[in-house]
Amino acid sequence: SLSSRKSNVVALIVPSINNAFFPELARAVEDIAQLNGYKLFLCNTDDSREKLVDYLNSLGSQYVDGLIIDSHNIKEADLTKLSRLGIPVVMIDRVIENSNYTSITVNNRAGGRLATEHLLEVGCKKIAHIQGPKNEMNSVQRMWGYRDQVGKLPWFDESWIAHAEFSVKSGYQATKELLIRHQDMDGIFASNDLIAIGALKAAYEWGKKIPNELAIVGFDGIDMSELTVPGITTIQQPIYQIGELAMHELLNQIKNSHAKPKKYILDIELVLRESTMRSQ
Ligand code: RIB
Repeated sequence: SLSSRKSNVVALIVPSINNAFFPELARAVEDIAQLNGYKLFLCNTDDSREKLVDYLNSLGSQYVDGLIIDSHNIKEADLTKLSRLGIPVVMIDRVIENSNYTSITVNNRAGGRLATEHLLEVGCKKIAHIQGPKNEMNSVQRMWGYRDQVGKLPWFDESWIAHAEFSVKSGYQATKELLIRHQDMDGIFASNDLIAIGALKAAYEWGKKIPNELAIVGFDGIDMSELTVPGITTIQQPIYQIGELAMHELLNQIKNSHAKPKKYILDIELVLRESTMRSQ
């Protein structure tokens, strides 16, 4: 098999190096790789299937010893191909459900529920959601978590869900739209922290006081979410742990090609900050 030609290089494929979530993951993967004598090859796909396939093809022919993939564009057939080449794979974060490969993710729907429940608990009466990309399962699951909490309330309809990319700029625009559409909006659950940062800026420009007039919750817990003014209450993913575990699992598979695939769903938690700490 090709696995006898060891390169001591592993690759990590991420959708966007612009979003601190992914460098934070990469840091963890690299730490564990280095400790074990491996070098890391970092691939950024910009969410494009074309770039992903291009990377998979060249990695397949250059004998990387293993691959950690974070991409909602990955297909079962890609994984089968890699496994025929004898290249172990671990999927993280944006994973294919019901697949026979090791995967590590969090319970996104529970996270969406927790975020929205918290906004209700601090007294928000009209809570909007800014959903991430519609074709991305994590953001869809978070949206369902939001709906689990408010979907049956009398005021709720589809106009309370705005759509955005996972970016600050897009979150800013979506928040502006919501502020125009719903003057009585007093809470926002944003599908990730970048969107929440955009929401902070839009609310500031609009003259809405955070958190008393508008409370905001993000998702991910990237380092930056603590450093904004006000700090952002968020659903913390165990980002470092995901990267660490992924690399350990990959090493396992590199050493033992018969290792059984495992499915990890790690816990998330609510981290309280000023963006929801209401004084009244
Ligand atoms: O911030 C980027 C998002 O994309 C994260 O929430 C992560 O879960 C990924 O899917």
